[in-house]
Amino acid sequence: MTEKINQVRVAFDIEVSKAVNVDELEQVRVKFLSRNGAIAQLFEDMKSVPVSEKPALGKLLNALKNDAQVAFDERKKTLSQSQEKPTSSIDLTLPGRPKPIGTKHPLTQTMDEIKKIFMTMGFSVATGPEIETDYYNFGALNFPPEHPARDMQDTFFIAKDVLLRTHTSPVQIRTMEQQKPPVREIMPGRVYRNEAVSARSLVSFHQIEGLCVDRGVTFSDLKGTLVAFAHQFYGKDVRFKFRPTFFPFTEPSADMYISCFLCKGKGCRMCKFVGWLEIMGSGMVHPHVLQNVGYDTEEYTGFAFGMGIERIACLRYGVDDLRLFYENDVRFLQQF
Ligand code: PHE
Repeated sequence: MTEKINQVRVAFDIEVSKAVNVDELEQVRVKFLSRNGAIAQLFEDMKSVPVSEKPALGKLLNALKNDAQVAFDERKKTLSQSQEKPTSSIDLTLPGRPKPIGTKHPLTQTMDEIKKIFMTMGFSVATGPEIETDYYNFGALNFPPEHPARDMQDTFFIAKDVLLRTHTSPVQIRTMEQQKPPVREIMPGRVYRNEAVSARSLVSFHQIEGLCVDRGVTFSDLKGTLVAFAHQFYGKDVRFKFRPTFFPFTEPSADMYISCFLCKGKGCRMCKFVGWLEIMGSGMVHPHVLQNVGYDTEEYTGFAFGMGIERIACLRYGVDDLRLFYENDVRFLQQF
């Protein structure tokens, strides 16, 4: 009898584990656990065993009955869960998971917007090389041979007379060499200066240059163009002023300032409590520069301007450390 009980236990264990779905498991239940199943049959057989053996065999048989029930319940639970899965894990009515997408870098955004404003005024875009010769970066732009800007401390030289451009002004020369007036170009690009990196200066940054050469171009055209730009870029209520300065390639030259858009000119940290922000250098193209590209200075005049993109983006977004634009920290970039 003991052997019989053990045989049923083994047979049951095998069949329960082999059942791969709820239907198969039901067949196992009928075969072993139902009223006429194998286990019930064993209880029937108990009636004919000698009384002395009943307690031990009864214990064995009851244990089988309990174990079988527990094993059956557990198997049923796993099988019904795994069968529900395909229908419950895909809910076609749920909205899709959004994929994070990148945005334009704040410097690109600033550059794009400046370009757009000048393009609506009839300027087109020109570019030039970042590796330049001394002639384009300095000589043709009327820098005297002993000018301090040529000093090793400001300029990265690659070889004698070959350097990384320190401004976008050489593109003025390249553009004028290739076309006759009228010229109306903006020239965005990367420039390099040999300076210690700090919150306020970088070894590489961006500028956008502008050049307009034609018959009868005057200083009031320069002012009108730059004021129209400033109104569009900084808002209608900014005030502006031009202050005389010096560039070898323009005469006269002027730095353009706008009233601080944060404090409206009252004075704050952004404008260092002066109420004004310098936004670009500009001036009337020096006759020597026009002569260097073979333009007739009796016939043509022009104006040029240049601004630093990083500085403008700093002012615009209230960023106080230029290095942040180059660290590629998404926590910073996500704010734009
Ligand atoms: N190239 C000058 C600079 O880097 C800016 C400038 C451009 C000034 C054109 C006048 C005209 O500071």
